[in-house]
Amino acid sequence: MIGPVDRPLEASPRQALLFAGEDAELPLPEGLWRGRSFFDSTTVAAQAAAIAHAAPFRQMRVPGGGLMSVAMTNCGVAGWVADEHGYRYSHTDPLTGQRWPALPEAWRHLAHRAATAAGFVGFEPDVCLINRYASGARMGLHRDSDEADLRQPIVSFSLGASAEFLWGGLHRRDPVRRVPLHEGDALVWGGPVRLAYHGVAPLRPRGGPPERLNLTFRRALAG
Ligand code: SIN
Ligand code: FE2
Repeated sequence: MIGPVDRPLEASPRQALLFAGEDAELPLPEGLWRGRSFFDSTTVAAQAAAIAHAAPFRQMRVPGGGLMSVAMTNCGVAGWVADEHGYRYSHTDPLTGQRWPALPEAWRHLAHRAATAAGFVGFEPDVCLINRYASGARMGLHRDSDEADLRQPIVSFSLGASAEFLWGGLHRRDPVRRVPLHEGDALVWGGPVRLAYHGVAPLRPRGGPPERLNLTFRRALAG
């Protein structure tokens, strides 16, 4: 079980700085923790490719009828899916009819370590949603609210092209902050801001990798 958040979610002064553009440094919004170069992106990218081999990336349809611009797959005991009926976690991949690939043990450890560093002890992810952003792909402001255990945080790992993460507040109309995310960055939020609105600005790759991958580790099913 996740432990109580017994201290405010403050990053250390050094971790609380981020680079916006070339040299400006801005504090991270309150409630976000980020670890730079937190994981080996080559290894994690190879593991993600193996998962996508078994459970291919696909653009999901949303209840209104449109396709999401981000392509998705999952690993773990369940996977997040969207279709014309809504959003939910499914034990099987609707595309293949098979169980989702297993959550790599190394990923579980890394996500646990990131959560611990952010102040959330005992994070036990059971699902990893993998998002693939091509140029122009975006994710509108939303809350991650389909998980059974909202006491556990969200742990996000970024790979490939840099992106602007959008961080809103607990209310849809709250001001939105832009947080640059680069390859190797871990980002964690939970506790009082577990249900904060967030999204990703349209991807604009600038000469580096043409795509971005994002892994979000969640505790989707009740413990
Ligand atoms: C998400 O909110 O599920 C994805 C966030 C990201 O791609 O950084
Ligand atoms: Fe999300």
